[in-house]
Amino acid sequence: MLTHSFFNKIIGKYVIRLFMPSPILLNHLVKNYGKVQAVQDISFEMKEGEVLGLLGPNGAGKTSIISILTSLEKPTSGEAKIFGIDVALEEKQTKASLGFVPQELVSHGFFTVEEVLRFHSGYFGLADNKAQIDYLLNKLGIYIHKDKKIRELSGGMKRRFLIAKALVHRPKLLLLDEPTAGVDIELRNSLWEFVRELNNQGTSILLTTHYLEEAEKLCDRVAIIHLGKLRQMGKTAELVKNMTQRQIVFQLHTPTSSLQSPYVKSQSDKQIICQIPAGMELGELMGKIHLDTKVISDIRIKEGTLEEAFLNVLSEA
Ligand SMILES: Nc1ncnc2c1ncn2[C@@H]1O[C@H](COP(=O)(O)OP(=O)(O)OP(=O)(O)O)[C@@H](O)[C@H]1O
Ligand SMILES: [Mg+2]
Repeated sequence: MLTHSFFNKIIGKYVIRLFMPSPILLNHLVKNYGKVQAVQDISFEMKEGEVLGLLGPNGAGKTSIISILTSLEKPTSGEAKIFGIDVALEEKQTKASLGFVPQELVSHGFFTVEEVLRFHSGYFGLADNKAQIDYLLNKLGIYIHKDKKIRELSGGMKRRFLIAKALVHRPKLLLLDEPTAGVDIELRNSLWEFVRELNNQGTSILLTTHYLEEAEKLCDRVAIIHLGKLRQMGKTAELVKNMTQRQIVFQLHTPTSSLQSPYVKSQSDKQIICQIPAGMELGELMGKIHLDTKVISDIRIKEGTLEEAFLNVLSEA
């Protein structure tokens, strides 16, 4: 029985992946604002159920892409599809299948948190959505603020409110444009935890963030854009492996003769710093640099990070 349901689940997931159009498809997307070429011929496909990081420096074009996906802006050329439907042709339908947390904090004037969430549910035809609204208010820790007017909320509370608003209609795709900008570390951690939980429940998530350490933990894949162009896209761990080096630092208790190797970046009486490709092991390095292990007092290894990979991609671009 257990085996049967297990196989059904696996096969079901596989069949859904085979036949379900991808949550986001960009096909030669271009967006110009007058002379500014914000998005220049970007194509990529998001996978069902993944967390995809859209990374890039300020002005790279991230919000422009998200604005097209949410129908706030029209593409100049090319197409953007949500679950197989062109956002420029079927605005209402595509809007209904996604949740969106904007980068800018928008004000809803004089309405209370609960009122706005109720109105927003009504927009999606959900007349009685109390259970979902209460669940989100509790989950995001703002239930006690539900009767406050939006303008009375602090910045962090507004962010939580915007996330609740994006989720009232249980969308299968969530777009987060810097959801943790200006948010303290505790709230940031709890928001990421919630994002992970939503993803585990099957929500596909596209997120932009400048917190690359957090993106590295959270994102299955990342797309790096710079000056409107897609520079790299791939599995986060593979990108880090391909685009960074490992740093090995040997602390010495006894000075040793100068080592001749391209892997040795610096050497003093107290320490030797080596840089090796991410795929190379310490044993292989030792075989190449001929360092007498008796002079070593300590070894520190620093693995490459997404931040380093990101900076390397940008400098190559
Ligand atoms: N409404 C607009 N009118 C004119 N230019 C715009 C508009 N929105 C964005 N731009 C320009 O388009 C380019 C891309 O901006 P965008 O907001 O997409 O960048 P971003 O990657 O989201 O940056 P950030 O990390 O700062 O949020 C920038 O040069 C920006 O000045
Ligand atoms: Mg932006």
